[in-house]
Amino acid sequence: MLESLNDVYNLHDLKTLAEAQLERGALEYYSSGAMDGHTLSESTAVFSRLKLRPRVLCDVSSVDTRTTLLGLDLSSPLCAAPTAFHRMAHNEGERATARAIRQFGTLMTLSTLSNTDMEEVGLEAQGRWWFQLYVFRDRELTRSLVARAEQAGARALVLTVDTPRLGRREINVRNLFRLPPHLSIKNAGMQGWMPPASQGGDGLAEFVAAQMDASLSWKDLEWLRSITHLPIVLKGILTAEDAKLTLEHGANAIWVSTHGGRQVDTAVSTLEALPEIVEAVNGQLEVYLDGGIRRGSDVLKVLALGARAVFLGRPVLWGLACGGEAGVSKMLNMLQYELELTMALCGKNSLEGLKPDLIFRG
Ligand SMILES: Cc1cc2nc3c(=O)[nH]c(=O)nc-3n(C[C@H](O)[C@H](O)[C@H](O)COP(=O)(O)O)c2cc1C
Repeated sequence: MLESLNDVYNLHDLKTLAEAQLERGALEYYSSGAMDGHTLSESTAVFSRLKLRPRVLCDVSSVDTRTTLLGLDLSSPLCAAPTAFHRMAHNEGERATARAIRQFGTLMTLSTLSNTDMEEVGLEAQGRWWFQLYVFRDRELTRSLVARAEQAGARALVLTVDTPRLGRREINVRNLFRLPPHLSIKNAGMQGWMPPASQGGDGLAEFVAAQMDASLSWKDLEWLRSITHLPIVLKGILTAEDAKLTLEHGANAIWVSTHGGRQVDTAVSTLEALPEIVEAVNGQLEVYLDGGIRRGSDVLKVLALGARAVFLGRPVLWGLACGGEAGVSKMLNMLQYELELTMALCGKNSLEGLKPDLIFRG
């Protein structure tokens, strides 16, 4: 029986403990996937099918996981993905996440849909954050979000490109997901946002349909580029074709993602999409990946296949639910321990030189 963080030895334990702590609406929102959940369940299952080829006698007396992302020094390639509504998990919400990440020495991505103003998070994160952008139909609102992110010290903009509409997460539709009345979408100035219950369905899906610009296309990248000097990362790329277009349109990095299996059900898993994207980019852009990372060995596989960092979505929320900053720190430290251990056991003492030869090809 898991009673506290002291009983937690891995991310599976953390998830179990979090599930016992969270309110039903929050738990359903955090854990849901689109439609039948095939992409969601594949996102973790795919890692156990891919086998490692450990090497021996390589002097692993010290193991170094330091790296850089868009020029920022990181202690490790473990970063936080943008997830909406951290205060449903813990009252300190995004501020607690920012503190844990700053202490760990990597970076968090703050969602447009956070429950905390980006200025407050910027103070806690001290430069260790990127801002995730959704483009609103109201371009002035979007422009002001970008300007505020720059002003508050974000190091990059992460444009999420996989959400012209919100994926259908049936449990949230059936149980009428709503943001609790004491919380709001702070960055968008939407205090106490909650669509009327009479509308039924998933409240967030209604919000996205009403507010976000589904007409967004490649040409809008020029507009975004014209209003910011920050690097632009495209989040939600799953094909070589779109990786090439990202290069052509001058974005600065690619983030391979299925949005945690919450958008296109039966979409290819990120681990399976990664090789064609790395090949298409041919070293010209940094490539990152998220989705289903639960063990240090998962991280090593992703890096061996050519991504520079991994981003964690739900594990951050589980950490928050199990003790705020302390829970997020514990999650990061457990995964870091496993990454270093797996590297040592596979004969690797740094991230440089990780190559696909670490992966068994059958
Ligand atoms: C509860 C939840 C909320 C999310 N909110 C956002 C968001 O606001 N913006 C975004 O770009 N992605 C969002 N995502 C997707 C994550 O950034 C990330 O792609 C995904 O969670 C990674 O998979 P994982 O949860 O298995 O680590 C969300 C995911 C979850 C689970």
